[in-house]
Amino acid sequence: MEINQRFLQACRGEPVDVTPVWFMRQAGRYMPEYRAIREKYSLIEICQHPEIAAEVTMQPVRALGVDAAILFADILLPVIPLGLGLEFAKGEGPMIGSPVRTLEDVRTMKPFDTESDLSYVMDAIRILRGTLGGVPLIGFCGAPFTVASYIIEGGSSREFLKTKTMMYSAPEVFHALMEKLSVVLSDYLVAQIHAGAQAVQVFDSWVGALSPADYETFILPYSQKVLNAAEAMNVPVIHFGTNTTTLLPQMKRAGGSVLGLDWRLPLDDGWKIIGHDRAVQGNLDPALLFAPLPEIKARVYDILRRADGRPGHIFNLGHGILQHTPVDNVKAVVDMVHEFSAEKVNIL
Ligand code: CP3
Repeated sequence: MEINQRFLQACRGEPVDVTPVWFMRQAGRYMPEYRAIREKYSLIEICQHPEIAAEVTMQPVRALGVDAAILFADILLPVIPLGLGLEFAKGEGPMIGSPVRTLEDVRTMKPFDTESDLSYVMDAIRILRGTLGGVPLIGFCGAPFTVASYIIEGGSSREFLKTKTMMYSAPEVFHALMEKLSVVLSDYLVAQIHAGAQAVQVFDSWVGALSPADYETFILPYSQKVLNAAEAMNVPVIHFGTNTTTLLPQMKRAGGSVLGLDWRLPLDDGWKIIGHDRAVQGNLDPALLFAPLPEIKARVYDILRRADGRPGHIFNLGHGILQHTPVDNVKAVVDMVHEFSAEKVNIL
């Protein structure tokens, strides 16, 4: 079996034959194969049936020829064994049945055993290691802040007002929640690595809502705990956030062998801030996948030109693939990244 090493090599900052590429949310509603399965099962049902979760994970690997697979799951699954209730209402996004607002709420969150309470996730990983062949499998979890924001708000949010109000008005409650989540999420990530995940990504999708000073006080120690736990297992750890231009130095200190970059900052500028001793992942705007091919081509080329053939670049979007994205454009980007980085052709 031929092993695809380029993703893992790039994570370690080693030279590669061509730039590896995968996409956040590469499995999902933009794919007809996924929609067919979703007609029969809810999102949570897919996650809780390891064979189906494994099949959905494989869909983009087959259709796109990406260099890594990401386990099909959700950052909010640990909310279920915490006893807080999780539902994905149609058109509403995630909803938490019992949001956490007080110290008493934090104390009554159920302690859980990852291996038994989230065994379906580990089972999906074990199945996938058998079916993926040489394509590496990425496990993941949400970072404590991003998960805490859903637990405090009760669902998605734009302003994070309840979360910030807790931070500023009842910091002891916020710290207690973050402490508890950092333990649970560390265990969850380590269990995924034990089950066979060859790399992991920590999604701090909404941390860009905070200032550097608040990141330092309220976030860094807890993210660090989760990232360190995974790094101690000797697998690449990708630390991802959006809107993080002013937070990159602190995110680097918190940890991760690879830092995610979104499109708000040119890749070379972001990499300079982080330092070339770390690998980077990114950073095409997901909306560009709706543009005509010549425009996509120019933007893909621009990112590769900014990476400048330096070891340690993993091509990805700056955030997840959007619903209604044309599949052909996603596939075209995979081929472009491989072709341009192999030949360094000047298309401009
Ligand atoms: O292919 C993959 O990337 C793996 C699967 C994956 C899902 N969620 C499945 C999913 C991953 C990596 C996630 C992570 C996730 N979940 C994040 C972090 C990534 C990011 O985009 O910032 C967040 C914030 C969540 C929470 C979440 N889950 C939200 C806000 C929503 C609703 C959004 C929407 O588009 O409706 C979900 C639902 C969800 N999780 C879907 C998928 C494919 C939507 C599709 C469906 O309902 O079938």
